[in-house]
Amino acid sequence: MPDTTPSNTTKINLGCGHILPPGWVNVDGSYRAWLASRLPRIDRALTACRILPKTEFNDTIMWCNLLKKFPWADNSVDVIYMGEIMEHFTQEQGRQVLENSLRVLKPDGVLRIRVPDNARFWRNYLAEYDAIRAKPRDQQNRNHERWTHMFFREICTNPSKFGSAGYYHKWMYDDVSLIMLLEELGYHNVERMPFHDSRIDDITVIEERDDLIVECTKPTVQQAMRLAA
Ligand SMILES: C[S@@+](CC[C@H](N)C(=O)[O-])C[C@H]1O[C@@H](n2cnc3c(N)ncnc32)[C@H](O)[C@@H]1O
Repeated sequence: MPDTTPSNTTKINLGCGHILPPGWVNVDGSYRAWLASRLPRIDRALTACRILPKTEFNDTIMWCNLLKKFPWADNSVDVIYMGEIMEHFTQEQGRQVLENSLRVLKPDGVLRIRVPDNARFWRNYLAEYDAIRAKPRDQQNRNHERWTHMFFREICTNPSKFGSAGYYHKWMYDDVSLIMLLEELGYHNVERMPFHDSRIDDITVIEERDDLIVECTKPTVQQAMRLAA
């Protein structure tokens, strides 16, 4: 696909993982992202010898731990996309990342976040629980416990350093909590959005799945003044 992004547009893909669309600054903070971006030859050699598994990371990506100071200047970024990364931060860390994102976005710049939907997860649990509970006692089973198992033993479990790069979920959002948080931090036009429906023109190259998706903008100077008045 030809890259039609104007060269003065900065679009950053935070916690890119395997999604590395052209025209975006694809940023990741994992050990493997560091090796593949800083020492690509060694990474390729270790992969060829099967010491490391194959990876999509390469030397085009930018290694950066998003819990440290952001490397972008204030008011310099047009678009920030965060796909399945906010849930890897504690509530406090997530707030800090969103504050830093607001700082580096240009006025009217766009932030789009996709996270697992906490409400949908527990709604799925409740649907199975309700169906089992409605049965006579002698026909009940404990199949609905798979949701509790998934939550405590998979989603919130710290894997080995090299499984998922040591990342696990530390917080969960629903539309109410995420929208309120973004508004509290000063974002504008905060709305839950359908899959692929966005102000971002090439959204289809970066958004692989539907889930809880929220989009917002940084207020322009006029909007910020109106809000403060
Ligand atoms: C579940 S993957 C998401 C990949 C992709 N964005 C997607 O939508 O499928 C989360 C990514 O966030 C990265 N990540 C987690 N914590 C990070 C941090 N503090 N700084 C930078 N990247 C981080 C991980 O290395 C991982 O690649």
